Amino acid sequence: MRPRILVAGGAGFIGSTFVRTCVEVSASSIVVVDKCTYAVGLNNLAEFNDGEQHRFVQGDIGNRGLIRDLLREHRPATVVNFAAETHVDRSILFPEEFVQTNVVGTFHLLDEVRQYWETLPGVSKDSFRFLQVSTDEVYGSLAPSDPPCDENRAFAPNSPYAASKAAADQFVRAFHQTYGVPTQIARCCNNYGPGQYPEKLIPLAILKALQEQPLPIFGDGNQIRDWLYVRDHCLALLKIIESGLPGEVYNISARAERTNLQVVRAICASLDETRPRKSGTYAELITHVADRPGHDRRYALDSSKISSQLHWRSAESFESGLEKTVHWYLDHLDLVMTVANGRAYRDWLAVNYEQRRFG
Ligand code: NAD
Ligand code: TYD
Repeated sequence: MRPRILVAGGAGFIGSTFVRTCVEVSASSIVVVDKCTYAVGLNNLAEFNDGEQHRFVQGDIGNRGLIRDLLREHRPATVVNFAAETHVDRSILFPEEFVQTNVVGTFHLLDEVRQYWETLPGVSKDSFRFLQVSTDEVYGSLAPSDPPCDENRAFAPNSPYAASKAAADQFVRAFHQTYGVPTQIARCCNNYGPGQYPEKLIPLAILKALQEQPLPIFGDGNQIRDWLYVRDHCLALLKIIESGLPGEVYNISARAERTNLQVVRAICASLDETRPRKSGTYAELITHVADRPGHDRRYALDSSKISSQLHWRSAESFESGLEKTVHWYLDHLDLVMTVANGRAYRDWLAVNYEQRRFG
């Protein structure tokens, strides 16, 4: 029988890419559990057949009964947790939802996994893995001259989102130390690629440019993020599951540090080539708006551990990944516009941008 993976949050941006990558490169069968929040807007696992090999279940990671039943029925060899509230700006406005899903939900999932894992026979117990998908944001903000964060860097989360992910990481660590559950933690930098909900910088800028609307840059736009193409992240996660050690943390990055202005200008240049405006360039739409409170200045990750120990390397450069991403949004414009015209998205733009005073 094929090894089974339970993928929590598998309908989101990274989770659905992980499911597709798994189907493509590994012989695993997959069970997805996902609450299907607003964030699944651009994703569907339509090609993911609800058949013998793969199952999709709509549900909350905080629903212990559901998780218990899924673990008993499917007896996975691996559980990967992507399920989370993920947008920093939303966490500033609605922090409680982040505590409920990212901290309490992750705890419930982890505790059900512990009880299931304790019933496994010896070999399956040793080879079982619980992989928590975490973020570089737990390490907080770096100064321009600081070295990139390695896995031993102290936590210094600055947003409610980052704090909730840091809290979850601590529980995942504690369940390994206390109960021996073979947990692993992956901390990746900013992802981009096909299917990302257009509230995050890259898809938001592509969409706004195509709508001929201002491209909102928070503050001076010189904040730095470290960017990774989403499929490279998912291939790294598979390496960790296959060859990583229990109890370990692995940073994932391709060291592609860019300022937000560089990122948005690169998107504009790509669109100038592929879909020129009637007159002028897309960069003329760039508009500085009020900054994000507590805005982290720089993220950068040292991922030499996963490179040297697990031989992971990224396949895409920032330029090649961005090109693929821009093309995906152009090729899926009908779907993107359906989301952009929907109530949930319009409400979000109103709540997050109207008070920022464009100008
Ligand atoms: P996303 O917002 O696109 O997807 C999150 C998914 O979780 C959605 O499908 C949503 O429906 C689901 N979900 C939310 N609450 C749930 C609940 N209570 N129970 C079950 N499912 C629930 O986010 P993403 O960008 O795909 O991020 C996935 C994971 O990767 C998150 O844990 C995030 O912290 C982490 N991460 C993201 C990035 C990034 O740049 N996007 C970088 C590093 C780490
Ligand atoms: P985002 O994609 O929200 O990811 P994160 O906050 O998790 O890094 O934002 C990336 C960067 O882009 C961050 O520095 C905030 C900035 N940003 C803007 O300048 N304007 C925007 O409209 C958004 C959404 C983000």
